Amino acid sequence: ETNGALKGRHILITAGPTHEPIDPVRYIANRSSGKQGFAIAAAAARAGARVTLVAGPVHLPTPAGVDRVDVETAREMLAAVEAALPADAAIMVAAVADWRTADAADQKLKKDGSGQPAPLALVENPDILATLGHHAQRPALLVGFAAETQKIAEHAQAKLAKKRADWIVANDVSGDVMGGDANAVQIVTAAGIESWPSLPKREVADKLIEKVAHALSPRPD
Ligand code: C5P
Repeated sequence: ETNGALKGRHILITAGPTHEPIDPVRYIANRSSGKQGFAIAAAAARAGARVTLVAGPVHLPTPAGVDRVDVETAREMLAAVEAALPADAAIMVAAVADWRTADAADQKLKKDGSGQPAPLALVENPDILATLGHHAQRPALLVGFAAETQKIAEHAQAKLAKKRADWIVANDVSGDVMGGDANAVQIVTAAGIESWPSLPKREVADKLIEKVAHALSPRPD
């Protein structure tokens, strides 16, 4: 149904976790598998779009027809996203680490025998979605995801405003969504909230891309 609906469009997608190094052998990460973002990239390509997929460290094959850029850290992800602009729509699915280590050690940290753990100072990472929301080349349609475990719709509404996004796709990650194959989402927009039933990630991707194509299509007048 979405065949050719995104022909001539450039869709920019982030997916997966980021890894923030502590030292050469250790890092901070999260449980994102990248499956939902990769499914969305595949759906956008099937709909005829040129797709740039900026992927954190994941174990997934590149979907057919997708240009993939692999990154490790949030700062690398931001740089790759900005380098991919302009885009008609950006869908930020990555579970970007909120914090990184203040400065990663050049050598492996060692126990010093005192019984005291090595101190781990953290600093905030750039918010890629919010950066795009305020960017001179802001995509016409900007979609964020929000992994929440409570007050899902309320937190998503706040995020729309703060990050200047058009839609927030909110999902409840208190179950086994991360790494799993199904996802129940709520699409939060200025117009209200749409709740979709729990669907395979591929179907969530197809429905979302259909909605993106509709939003980008010129209005008949
Ligand atoms: O604030 P929170 O992390 O819940 O927002 C999630 C949304 O923001 C997702 O779309 C995620 O990809 C994006 N995000 C980002 N850069 C960050 C943190 C979140 O792009 N540093």
